[in-house]
Amino acid sequence: MKFVIATHNKGKIVEFRRILEPMGIEAVGAELSEAEETGTTFAENAFIKAQAACKETGLPAVADDSGLCVDYLDGAPGIYSARFAEPGKRRLTVLEKLQGVPKEKRGAHFVSAVCAVFPNGDKIEAEGKCYGLISRESRGENGFGYDSIFEQEGRTFGEMSAEEKDQRSHRGKAFGEFEEKLKQYLAKSQEEE
Ligand code: IMP
Repeated sequence: MKFVIATHNKGKIVEFRRILEPMGIEAVGAELSEAEETGTTFAENAFIKAQAACKETGLPAVADDSGLCVDYLDGAPGIYSARFAEPGKRRLTVLEKLQGVPKEKRGAHFVSAVCAVFPNGDKIEAEGKCYGLISRESRGENGFGYDSIFEQEGRTFGEMSAEEKDQRSHRGKAFGEFEEKLKQYLAKSQEEE
């Protein structure tokens, strides 16, 4: 099966492929117009992006909407993670806002909502979260986005291998649930044929 990955984020395309290909899904990118993320939740925005890509290409499309929610910032940047602060200054801005904040108040979590939309209008949705702390400084070169300031057990995602991040991450968890749902969906579709 071929899926269009509805994202312009190169880091996400790499992660989507890594997770979808073992499921026998050929994950392809496409030149897509920018869908306006007008939803108020991660799930709504994932649906908007997947639906727009499916309409535009005529292929099943999968999208995720994800972000970082920082407890001390009342859940910000949340659904605005990609637009928070100036490009290139996002991690630094979070670190600055948490300067001097003690460890017990540095809790944060990543959320990933995944949605696949099929040309017949069917959809599959899944969501994953992973909890950790905002580090005191940026550490590690791996990953993308806020990886180098999000830590679990003393190491940031930026310091972990891709495989270790997948095992722990919001996207890894959302895709675990998505994989189960997709398998059930495909089995049911075959039964009905
Ligand atoms: P969107 O889902 O494309 O709207 O953007 C989500 C934004 O959240 C990304 O641009 C990243 O800044 C951030 N983000 C989402 N997932 C991750 C992750 O796994 N690691 C680091 N940052 C992430």
